[in-house]
Amino acid sequence: MATSALFIWISLLCLASLSLCYGWIDINPIKFVNEALSKERPSSSLKQSSYGLELDTNAATTRYLAVHTRPQDGLKEKDKIESLPGQPHEVEFEQYSGYVTVDPEAGRALFYYFVESPHNSSSKPLVLWLNGGPGCSSFGAGAMMELGPFRVNKDGKTLYQNEYAWNIDANIIFLESPAGVGFSYSNTTSDYNLSGDKRTAQDSYIFLINWLERFPEYKTREFFIAGESYAGHYIPQLAQVILHNDKYANRTVINLRGIAMGNAYIDFETTIKGAVDFYWTHALMPDEIYHGLASNCDFTTLNTSDNVCLDFVNQATNAVGNIYSYDIYAPLCNSSSKFHSVSTFDPCSKNYINSYLNIPQVQKALHANTTSLPYPWESCSGKINRLWGDKPLTVLPIIQELMVSGIRVWIYSGDTDGALPVTCSRYAINKLGTPVRTTWYPWYSQGEVGGYVVGFQNLTFVTVRGAGHFVPSYQPARALVLFSSFVNGKLPPPA
Ligand SMILES: *[C@@H]1O[C@H](CO)[C@@H](O)[C@H](O)[C@H]1NC(C)=O
Ligand SMILES: *[C@@H]1O[C@H](CO)[C@@H](O)[C@H](O)[C@H]1NC(C)=O
Ligand SMILES: *[C@@H]1O[C@H](CO)[C@@H](O)[C@H](O)[C@H]1NC(C)=O
Ligand SMILES: *[C@@H]1O[C@H](CO)[C@@H](O)[C@H](O)[C@H]1NC(C)=O
Ligand SMILES: *[C@@H]1O[C@H](CO)[C@@H](O)[C@H](O)[C@H]1NC(C)=O
Ligand SMILES: *[C@@H]1O[C@H](CO)[C@@H](O)[C@H](O)[C@H]1NC(C)=O
Ligand SMILES: *[C@@H]1O[C@H](CO)[C@@H](O)[C@H](O)[C@H]1NC(C)=O
Ligand SMILES: *[C@@H]1O[C@H](CO)[C@@H](O)[C@H](O)[C@H]1NC(C)=O
Repeated sequence: MATSALFIWISLLCLASLSLCYGWIDINPIKFVNEALSKERPSSSLKQSSYGLELDTNAATTRYLAVHTRPQDGLKEKDKIESLPGQPHEVEFEQYSGYVTVDPEAGRALFYYFVESPHNSSSKPLVLWLNGGPGCSSFGAGAMMELGPFRVNKDGKTLYQNEYAWNIDANIIFLESPAGVGFSYSNTTSDYNLSGDKRTAQDSYIFLINWLERFPEYKTREFFIAGESYAGHYIPQLAQVILHNDKYANRTVINLRGIAMGNAYIDFETTIKGAVDFYWTHALMPDEIYHGLASNCDFTTLNTSDNVCLDFVNQATNAVGNIYSYDIYAPLCNSSSKFHSVSTFDPCSKNYINSYLNIPQVQKALHANTTSLPYPWESCSGKINRLWGDKPLTVLPIIQELMVSGIRVWIYSGDTDGALPVTCSRYAINKLGTPVRTTWYPWYSQGEVGGYVVGFQNLTFVTVRGAGHFVPSYQPARALVLFSSFVNGKLPPPA
């Protein structure tokens, strides 16, 4: 299998060189695409059937009517967090967390953590943040490691303030999705076998409808969806469900204004091509392997029995050595070096988060794990990941549909990520063929180039200089400038 061999290669980077890869906060999405290859073939055409609700069929009616809006009276007050164990003294914003039932018959409920903005929250937009995997927690990664108001100290018991938290500019929901991830669960265990993109989008939509019932003051608020990695699938799919449901209902049920996808997995073919080129241009691969891959591996067709290609893939794996693929210049967690070459991010953060979220008093304060789940909280669920069903090879047709719909579509990328490198995003955008409106320019943060931006028709592309896969973890100040620009509908500052 010519093409998928490259996925094997990148997965081997995780398995062989990086023992932490799979257990890390996010799972290298590329590894799991490999599994889907035997079932699916990529479409070279963008005109494949779109995902989501089909408006002109009975399915639309069924799906639309299947949205359970259950009474939510009193639940907002119950979800209010008094304070989190070990949190800093002066916390100036409200925090809520708890479960929203998405299927009462099956007993399926999704866990969320919601932080309001400390100032003028009632005039700030509402943002849903999603991490990827599939199977990883948006609470553990997004909230506690990347853009949330708190980060966990080395002791695994106390929290400190993130001075570049994104709730400075918006009210943010972190959703653990789908059921089986983090604290989210189903009482019907066979539900987990139905894990996949469709189920995730559907449940996330039902979650949102009910959450807005619980927090009715947000019903008409400007709404955005942001996330990274495999959420490059979740975000456009959920946005499409929202727009189709609005159309079906003849009204704005959810006031969706835009989406932002970071280091996102959006298209199979360009992901492989982008990854290979990134490794070569970043001096992680010798010429002969690069040329061997180029002349022996077919990037557009899938062929598992091509041993020549597979051999080059194995050679490439060995050539890279033991580096942290989510940020190619970062130290390893177990490194003896105390010097951090590019960012000050602690590569062991995941361990502290894991300790903190498994403390019973923390779970109690969060109104989490109320049914005594028979397993610990984990940043990523290997089980859900293995059971994952539908996983289309490209979401570019959905992105095209969203671009035409008039919502804001941003694709951003930390430029030192080796898991879903910036080249993958650039090739995917090129495939969309949208014309340039604002030509490439450097944008600035704190007197330095924060990255680069190109304004395409109906789509904005932004890079973040010196950031790995988890952009706000490595470059918190630059990431906040990016987020602020996004929610305010402005391009990042040219000076
Ligand atoms: C799951 O089962 C437990 C125990 O019966 C129950 O307390 C809980 O409410 C159920 N969850 C849902 C979402 O129905
Ligand atoms: C809150 O909004 C008011 C009125 O729009 C404005 O004057 C004030 O500066 C805002 N405060 C902050 C902290 O953004
Ligand atoms: C769910 O999938 C697992 C593994 O694929 C299988 O062993 C199990 O029987 C399935 N359960 C149901 C209820 O389908
Ligand atoms: C939306 O409008 C169309 C055409 O006016 C109508 O046929 C349909 O029943 C309406 N849908 C809902 C949910 O009211
Ligand atoms: C897959 O690769 C093998 C070995 O190179 C080749 O014999 C076979 O024809 C290829 N299959 C397809 C569908 O291209
Ligand atoms: C870190 O862990 C990896 C994988 O277990 C191991 O190969 C490497 O030698 C370790 N490095 C140090 C500095 O301990
Ligand atoms: C839930 O709580 C039980 C103790 O009641 C604990 O053993 C388990 O690890 C917890 N699970 C999660 C997912 O937090
Ligand atoms: C941009 O959106 C407009 C409609 O809003 C549409 O006419 C145009 O074709 C879109 N262009 C691209 C490249 O998506």
